[in-house]
Amino acid sequence: FVFSEPNFDAHEQVVFACEPKSGLKAIIAVHNTNLGPAMGGCRMWNYRDEAQAVNDVLRLSRGMTYKNAVAGLPIGGGKSVIIGNPKTDKTPALFEALGEALERLGGRYVTAEDVGTHHHDMAHVASKTSYVAGLGASGDPSPYTALGCFVGAQAAVKHHLGRDSMEGLVVALQGLGNVGYDYARRLKQAGARLIVADIDQAALERAQAELGAQVVAVEAIYDVEADIYAPCALGATLNLGTLDRLKARIVAGAANNQLATAEIGELLRQKGVLYAPDFVINAGGIIKVCYEYLDKPENEVEAHVRRIGETLAEVFVRADREQLPTSTVADRLAEARFKR
Ligand code: NAI
Repeated sequence: FVFSEPNFDAHEQVVFACEPKSGLKAIIAVHNTNLGPAMGGCRMWNYRDEAQAVNDVLRLSRGMTYKNAVAGLPIGGGKSVIIGNPKTDKTPALFEALGEALERLGGRYVTAEDVGTHHHDMAHVASKTSYVAGLGASGDPSPYTALGCFVGAQAAVKHHLGRDSMEGLVVALQGLGNVGYDYARRLKQAGARLIVADIDQAALERAQAELGAQVVAVEAIYDVEADIYAPCALGATLNLGTLDRLKARIVAGAANNQLATAEIGELLRQKGVLYAPDFVINAGGIIKVCYEYLDKPENEVEAHVRRIGETLAEVFVRADREQLPTSTVADRLAEARFKR
């Protein structure tokens, strides 16, 4: 993760939830509820100290407000973090204690799984509160995130390359995990050629065998001659060290917090690279989780996710017109929706 400076000016409520018996040490950040209850996952991480955890939860919760607002969802933004090692410190009691803390917040914040937590953990949260989403009843949100990335990439190709088809385009895809693999499969089906990198050998072998992907070393992905760079692993891969190396004219991937600093958005624009802002293109998963939580019709989820393509097209046109980075335009779009 990148622990950049968060924005301290805007959070509605930040709660420290500690419960000695279970060992729970959590922080819940409600960033904004103007559009509805704050929704965002619960991350469990071995933070160096509490300050680092605070920093992370403030940054992530703010990001959720922007993501949910741009996605047109009737929810606000929040996030929670549990300080602890997800491999060794998990117990049912820990997640039950978190559930009790959420219950005390009376629905201002709704949690879900995130990095380091699983829907099995959320089932323990759900034994104490109903303010938890994505309990696994209809599965993993990743395919919806992948669909959003794919329609986002289509919108970028149309806008920037003037093409309706992906046929023959080369995509440098980093990270063949839950989202990345499914996204790669869709790209392949649409006629794109894949060049991939991952630290997981099995994922690479599968992509070679099933998708005819060409494999490059982890660090070499930034140097690939490609039309699209698709970051689907880590944050902050768009930074001063990688910018000059990138050959792609489009960045369209699922990873959160792709820009190491806000200035990178402008540098990409100056370089003629069209950047699909991360929190716009990767909202498919939260759209799915939100529909499930609010009991909205499941058969409308896909159409909503596909609207990510239209939203991005709007962002791209506005960015051209106003000579601004797409990331700035996306921020403004979100703020116009949630700020009062
Ligand atoms: P995942 O953990 O299933 O996949 C990540 C993949 O990246 C793994 O295959 C891993 O081996 C690989 N990887 C790790 N370090 C790497 C490196 N240095 N170079 C190349 N590959 C590397 O995660 P998932 O769910 O696919 O998410 C991918 C990204 O998308 C993450 O940044 C996540 O925060 C973001 N995201 C995911 C959503 C979802 O619905 N799962 C929703 C929104 C964002």
